[in-house]
Amino acid sequence: MKKIVEVLADKVSLIERSQVLVVDKIQSAIASRGQCSIALAGGSTPKPLYEALAQENLPWDKIHIFWGDERYVAPNHPDSNQLMARQAWLDKIEIAETNIHPIPTEANNPEIDAQSYEAELRKVFAASPEEFPTFDIILLGMGDDGHTASLFPHTSVLNEAKKAIAVGNKDGQPRITFTVPLLNQARCVLFLVAGANKQAALEQVFAAQGDAMTYPSRLINPQGELWWLLDRNAGAKINVPISC
Ligand code: 6PG
Repeated sequence: MKKIVEVLADKVSLIERSQVLVVDKIQSAIASRGQCSIALAGGSTPKPLYEALAQENLPWDKIHIFWGDERYVAPNHPDSNQLMARQAWLDKIEIAETNIHPIPTEANNPEIDAQSYEAELRKVFAASPEEFPTFDIILLGMGDDGHTASLFPHTSVLNEAKKAIAVGNKDGQPRITFTVPLLNQARCVLFLVAGANKQAALEQVFAAQGDAMTYPSRLINPQGELWWLLDRNAGAKINVPISC
């Protein structure tokens, strides 16, 4: 694993840097393998990145879009990560619906929807039951408690070693999420973290020693590249010079 940490002066700079990085990784994947698989983060941080990517002129027919986690709500619910990405990005570009792979949330049973998504991943990636599909890019955010995707502190999903997709939970509310082994199979994981409220958790995630059950982002160590793009407020206690 190659870990790169960049602290940007502010959130606008962080988003601009992430846009350059994501476009570069997409183009590299297409050049190498003829297509690109990218899993999107939810939450609020990545929304301006998605809005910026909607302005890019990319071969959308060669790009397959997935989600790293989803709240267990209908696709038109205001909390839906799918809805956010569609409104910010996907509804604004020419991309076939067959290239968009949302996490299903309508079986009224999170376990069934998680199994369906895993089956879809394995089909799209032509992966055997024993393999974890290898994503080209996985975008992640981090909560102020150190969670990422829907891998929340001290939840059983943190220990999932066989499934690629599982049911997590936030305060008892079900969520569907990539598991740690699926995340760590990626060629490139890119964390986007902004805001002073993330400072303390980031310090714990970056510490040489720490408890990954309490700070689950510590569990993310992909086989490929691990990028952390932080704004100055989030990265204030991380000993890395500000990137210009
Ligand atoms: C979600 C995300 C979650 C998010 C973090 C950070 O479904 O909410 O996947 O892991 O990335 O909570 O959220 P913010 O970007 O809003 O701070």
